[in-house]
Formats: sequence, structure tokens, C-alpha cells
Amino acid sequence: MSERRCFIAGNWKMYLTTTEGVRLAQELRNLLTQVRKVDIGVFPSALLLSAVAKKLEESNIVVGAQNAYAKGFGAFTGENSASQLKDAGAAWCLVGHSERRKIFGETDADCNRKIKELHGEGVNVIFCLGETIEEREAGTTFKVLERQLRVGLEGLKAPFPADLVLAYEPVWAIGTGRNATPDQVEEVHCWIRDWLKERFGATVGEALRIQYGGSVKPENAAQLLRVKNVDGALVGGASLKADSFVAIVKAAL
Ligand code: PGA
Repeated sequence: MSERRCFIAGNWKMYLTTTEGVRLAQELRNLLTQVRKVDIGVFPSALLLSAVAKKLEESNIVVGAQNAYAKGFGAFTGENSASQLKDAGAAWCLVGHSERRKIFGETDADCNRKIKELHGEGVNVIFCLGETIEEREAGTTFKVLERQLRVGLEGLKAPFPADLVLAYEPVWAIGTGRNATPDQVEEVHCWIRDWLKERFGATVGEALRIQYGGSVKPENAAQLLRVKNVDGALVGGASLKADSFVAIVKAAL
């Protein structure tokens, strides 16, 4: 039996002002203070990082960024480096979220550079992958996932300098209210697990955590978190309200 700890992460996307984010962080801190068996994280937009991280200091809730640039420093107007994010309080960072890939044109190779840069700074990574509805309907889901994993993780060697978590997020399930079924999730997560074992060896492949993301809410969390090889959830919409996020964390207990 593996000892993988469940990790429930809230992706706040480009929502909440600093005041609202700090208030939500305080509420979560109060409501989740007893939780010890599950890892919990919030991922506010970069502007909120310092304030939210300060509010969650010495709590059981970690803080992460949603994106980082792949270079250490330089003339890259509007971007944030891994070291700057870390300095602002981010212990984690998302890489390859489908909104980054689709809206901002991030490639698998960009994801690979970002993961390496973040790991080089000691920042833990949640690496997101997933197929579009067109890709699923065309029967190319595993081909797409294979490419995202192969290119995204190219050159990475275990032991990693910082943690790596995978998040399977079918694009058609993100923000649509339509989550993947437990059978669909199980099929993909088992396939990812096998890929990871093949690539990094049985021990590392077995230890890496794979979150599910895409319309996770209090009503479906317990069912999805029970699925084999599901080690947590990446939660968007339902992470913006304390009661729904807390209910999802509790479903993991
Ligand atoms: P959702 O978003 O929970 O609102 O579907 C998930 C995500 O974008 O990570």
C-alpha cells in the first residue's frame, strides 16, 4: 500500500482582491486548523501572494503561485520569476494549467523550462495536464497525455530538488460543472501512474501524487477522491468560498 498523502489545492485564478483573499485565508485557517491528515494549499494570483502567505504563516495551509516565468531574472516585462514568487511566500507553483496553455499559448516545452526553473529555486510544482473534448472524442486522449508528460518532464531526474505533483484536468471538465466520471478518472490516473513508474522507476512512480481537477465540488468530492490513484484535487470555482473548499477538504479525511 502506498502512503501518498491527499493534497487538496485551491486555484483562485484571477479572482479576489487582496482584502478578499486575506479574509478567505483567515476563514480557511480557522476552519481547517484541526486537519492534519490532508495537505492543503491555496494558489492566489501573484499580487495577493505576500499578504495571503503572511496570513497563513505557521498554519497547515501552504501557498502557491499560478504561474512563473522560466528565467531567473531579466528584461521580461510583466513576468514573475520563481525566486520572486518564492520570496513573496510561494512554496508551490502551478505549471501548464489549461488556461495558460490555451489562452496564453504555453507549450509543453515552456512547461518543461518552468518546472526546471522552479525546481532549481526549490519551489514545488503542480504540473497540470489534460485533453480537450475534441481530443477525447477523436480517441487521442492518451497520445496527448503522453506528449504532455514526455516533453513537460523531459530531463527531470529523481530524486527531484523539490516536490512534483501531477494534476489531471480534462479541459472539458474545467469550470463547466461537468466533472469526469469516476471510471474516466480511474482509467486516466492508472495510465499516468504506469507512465510515471516506467519513466522514474517503480518507487518514485508509486510515490508521486496525482490530483484530479475539473468541476470538483462538495457534492462529488468524496466520490472522486475515493477513486484509485486519485491523491487529491485541484479545485477552481469551489475554492473561492470557505464553506465549499472546507467541505472538499473534509471529504478527503
Ligand atoms: P474548476 O477549475 O474546479 O472551476 O473546474 C479547476 C481548475 O481550473 O484548476
